Amino acid sequence: MPLSQTIALNDGHHIPRLGFGVWRLPDEDAPGVVGAAIRAGYRHIDTAQGYDNEEGVGRAVREAEVPRGELFITSKERTRDQGYDSTFRSLEGSLKRLGLDYLDLFLIHWPVPEHDRYAETWRALVELRAQGRVRSIGVSNFLPSHFDRLIGETGVVPAVNQVELHPRYQQRDIRDWHAAHSIVTESYSPLGGEGAALLREPVVTDIATRLSKTPAQVVIRWHLQQDLVVLPKTANPTRVTENLDVWSFTLSTEDIARIDALDRPDGKTLPRPEEMNTLF
Ligand SMILES: NC(=O)c1ccc[n+]([C@@H]2O[C@H](COP(=O)([O-])OP(=O)(O)OC[C@H]3O[C@@H](n4cnc5c(N)ncnc54)[C@H](OP(=O)(O)O)[C@@H]3O)[C@@H](O)[C@H]2O)c1
Repeated sequence: MPLSQTIALNDGHHIPRLGFGVWRLPDEDAPGVVGAAIRAGYRHIDTAQGYDNEEGVGRAVREAEVPRGELFITSKERTRDQGYDSTFRSLEGSLKRLGLDYLDLFLIHWPVPEHDRYAETWRALVELRAQGRVRSIGVSNFLPSHFDRLIGETGVVPAVNQVELHPRYQQRDIRDWHAAHSIVTESYSPLGGEGAALLREPVVTDIATRLSKTPAQVVIRWHLQQDLVVLPKTANPTRVTENLDVWSFTLSTEDIARIDALDRPDGKTLPRPEEMNTLF
């Protein structure tokens, strides 16, 4: 059966499986690059306050010839804005910069447990969802211990957890935990992150050559076939369309197993959740 283009969230909304990541995309380039991505067919854009490109992304979304209701826009709260009252102001800031009247998904970007504000931040997100300022709410870089506190204090289970996930760092434990709690896993740095060295891995290039696909298409397809939401980033116009052309082929069980074997305990490229404590 062909893969559907969306996955159901635990709040009844649906999220496009393939999103367009915009970290490291300068604000002045965002209207052109994100506009081209929407014209090419992306319907899901993943930005964050910390990427400093919400204005450019918002311009692309507002100028797109695609109705707002067909687009899925995510942003994430800066760590320094965490707190109950400050989160209401923080979300209004994102909406103002984006020029939108609601977000599809708003995430707590990092838990920063030593700051100890993620639980009160979550209570504000629950309220913002009730007010309709954001359709779905979730988190990023959270561990089960952080979830236990959010769920224990509010009874509201985040719709997603966005975590680093690629063939060299597959996060099997947290994915099982998410599945048991009806949380969708979003893969960030899905091509292995900046520089995408993963795409030169012989296992990946072998499979790509045999299937007449590119290494990036093989890796994106690996994410899709495991019910992961995948957020590749590119600023390159050819790759914008290349990374979207992943729906007309299927990786065999053997190909998936070969890629699965690339998992490494030290494959992580960004800080672990408990290590990230800067208030960026
Ligand atoms: N929540 C978090 O804490 C967090 C952290 C990191 C990332 N993210 C999200 O995840 C998104 C993606 O992660 P990422 O930006 O770290 O890395 P990524 O998508 O895994 O890889 C991006 C790199 O791959 C290159 N690339 C893209 N398509 C390619 C292709 N078809 N062939 C060859 N190279 C290709 C890009 O270069 P070019 O641009 O030159 O094509 C760039 O160097 C981010 O943009 C962001 O939205 C979230």
